[in-house]
Order: sequence, then C-alpha cells, then structure tokens
Amino acid sequence: MESTPSQPRDTWGSKLTFILAAAGSAIGLGNIWAFPTNTAANGGAAFVLVYLICVIFIGAPVMLAEFTIGRSARRNPVGAFKMLAPGTSWKILGGLGVATGVIILSFYAVIAGWTVAYILKCMVGTFKPGVDTLAIFEGMSGNPLSAIGYLLVFMALSVYVVVGGVRDGIERWTKVLMPILLILLVLLGIRAVTLSGAKEGLAFYLKPDFSLINLKVVLAAAGQAFFSLSLGMGTMITYGSYIAKRDNLVSSTLWVGGLDTAIAILAGLIIFPTLFHAGLGLQEGGPGMVFVVLTSLLGEMPPAPIGGIIFGTGFFLLLGIAAITSSVSLLEVGVAYIVDEKRISRKKAGLMLGGMAFVLGIPSALGNGAVSWLTDLPGIGKDFLSFLFVVFGQYSLAIGAMLISIFVGWKWGVKAASAEVESEGNVFRFRRIWSFLVRFLCPITLAVILINMLWGVITG
Ligand code: PFF
Repeated sequence: MESTPSQPRDTWGSKLTFILAAAGSAIGLGNIWAFPTNTAANGGAAFVLVYLICVIFIGAPVMLAEFTIGRSARRNPVGAFKMLAPGTSWKILGGLGVATGVIILSFYAVIAGWTVAYILKCMVGTFKPGVDTLAIFEGMSGNPLSAIGYLLVFMALSVYVVVGGVRDGIERWTKVLMPILLILLVLLGIRAVTLSGAKEGLAFYLKPDFSLINLKVVLAAAGQAFFSLSLGMGTMITYGSYIAKRDNLVSSTLWVGGLDTAIAILAGLIIFPTLFHAGLGLQEGGPGMVFVVLTSLLGEMPPAPIGGIIFGTGFFLLLGIAAITSSVSLLEVGVAYIVDEKRISRKKAGLMLGGMAFVLGIPSALGNGAVSWLTDLPGIGKDFLSFLFVVFGQYSLAIGAMLISIFVGWKWGVKAASAEVESEGNVFRFRRIWSFLVRFLCPITLAVILINMLWGVITG
C-alpha cells in the first residue's frame, strides 16, 4: 500500500540510530578506497584541500536539503518530488537517482567483493613481509571466476540485508561496528605514520601544491564529496524519510558529514605514508591501489606474523561491513521507490534490482585484468569500472546534487525547507548561510564546473 504522509511510516528508533545509519551509508569504500585513489590521481594535498572546501560549502548544504525533502515528503525520491512539486517533471530527477543507484551498486559490489576475497587471504596469512602485493591483487582480480564469484557473494549479502527492512536490516549492523572500524583505522594510521619514508607520503598528502588545482581537480573533488557523502541520487532523501520530526536535521548533517570526512582523512593517513614507504607507484594497480598498498602495511604490524593476520582480517571484515551498509543504501533508493509506487513486495524489488546490478557489474568485474579490452577501454584509456565511477559516481551525482539544490532553493523554496527543519520547535542554526549556499553557491558552482567539463569534452 502506498504510504501517505498521514500514515505512520517506519521511523528510526532514535536520533542516534538515524545518524549511525546515515553515516553507515556515507562511510564505505568511498572513504577508504575512492578517496585515496582520487587523491593519488589528482596531485595529493591540493585535491584534499579542494575536497574539504567542497564538503563544507556544497556537500553539507545539499545533505541538509536532501534530509528536508525526505522528511517533509516521507517518501522515496520519485514520490517525494511528485508530492512536493505535483504535475512537474521533477520526478524524473528521482528516477535518475534510482538508475544511478543501481549502476553505482554494480561496480561498488565488485570492489566490495574484493574485500571479501581479502578477508580470506588475510586469515590464511597471505601478507607476510616482503610479498608482492600487486601480483596477489592481479592474481585475484584477473581471474574471471573469482572476480564474478565475489561480486555475486557481495550482491547476495546486500540484497539479504535490504529485504529485511529498515530497522532489522540496517540498524543492527551499524551501531556496534562503525566505532570498531574507527579504532582499527587509528591503530593502522599510527603504524603507518611511524614507518620509515612516511614523511614523504605525508608531504604528498598534506602539503598542497596550488599550481595543481584546475577544473578537472575541482570536479573530481566535488564528485568525490557527493559520492562519499551519499548525495545527489536521493539516498539521503530516502533515509530522511524515516527521520522523526523531533530530530534536528542540522546537527544530524554535521555529525554525518563530520564522521565521513574524518574517516576519509584517516584512510589517507594510512595509505600515503605506506605507499611511499613501500616504494610503490601512485597509480599502481589502478582501482586496486588501496588493496595493494594496505596489504603491504600488514607485514609491518607487530607482532609478526600474527599482527598482520589480526589487523588484516579485522580491517577487511569491517571494510566489507561498511561497504554493505553503503550498498544497502544504494539499493534502498530503488527498493523504496518500487515498494511505495509500484506495490511490489520488498523482497521482489530487492531481488530484481540486485539481480540487475549483478549483471551490470560483470563487465566491471572483468575489467581488472580478466578481459583486456574492458581493462583498457579503447579510446577512453581507463578500465570499465573506473569509467563507470567517473560517469555515474561523479558526473551523475554532481548533476543530481545541482538539480536538488535548484529544487530546494528555487522550486520548493528555502522557506518551506526551513519550516521543515524547524518542525517541533527545532532551532535552525546557519539558516541564512544555508539559504545562500543552496540557492546560489551550490547550483552556480556546479553548473559552471559541469558546463566547462562538457565544453572540454566537445572541443576535445
Ligand atoms: N557513500 C558511499 C561510500 O562512500 O562508500 C557510497 C555511496 C552510497 C554513494 C550511497 C552514493 C550513495 F547514494
């Protein structure tokens, strides 16, 4: 049955649970895999700086915008736009989000599948000091059977969690495991920054060379911010639809954004010192870089060899779980849409979308050594997975975020959105700044970047 705002909708158990669940969506491979990979590809510290600026001035306002849409409409993204702007084409934006979610999930699950493989490898003590971690990665990702097999395992797990429903599925996982992940990251970080050669890595990561900042870097940083914060495709609209009216949306935004950013920064503190210490190249392994670098740290974890086994297994296990809480949110957007609007059961919807994402994920899985033209797409110079990541993980989310800010800033209106923030007597801190950012800074900056990029593509 279609839920209407007057009907009670399943809500999060408490504000803390909501923050943990939204942080669970935000924190994932985006922080630990994509952030260091993008930082390496875009010149290091300069990228980090632009990234932080994007998170504060574009990401956070858009997150708040998504929460207000979701909580006000209490629906999936398509239903929300239909309700807040009846009879308009805005609902297409919700549809774009559903499609983007399935496509992102398709390649996300490939990388998450690697974490499953790495849990097993760590358990049996594969990563001894001095092993060739690049060769190990290529051995796994280049084998078509294991590449597709792990994708299937991870996708099945995600569907299983989503079909369990909001409370049972998502809440249970995030509460306990996120804090443990944080502790493990801090310990790995301490080891990494005390390695010989760490200084060079830290300089690359933290000392900006401003001459490296250009439009490509800015778009990559903005795209990374949206990807990491789960914005631009309606995930936070969907999650917002389950928030209780009494909860303060501004502090929720600050918590989720703050935690997400802290974890990304920590991940970089682990990866770059280790990378320089191990003498690895910045691009080594493409999408596999983080796997190659991280595992070379494991041999250095005391006491050898058991330290490496414990840290490695624990780390990839938690990373896999962080990836599940994110992939669940990628799937949840489409599932909520189908359940709300098409009256199909949650189970069927989950299986259908998960199945689609699995099939779509196969070329990404095979594009890391197993099939050569997918590994180096002709005329594009990237592997299939990296290509999808740029087009859907960055451009599509940036377009979505731009349109969402236009919607809240100009169509639905900051007044209505502010009233939603202030429901049940909540105080709206930063109201004026937010109104300015969401009406002017976010849409204009994103439009300028996107138009310039498009122009660059057209004119070659
Ligand atoms: N934010 C997730 C991560 O950083 O791993 C990925 C993601 C989830 C992106 C949900 C977009 C999304 F809607």
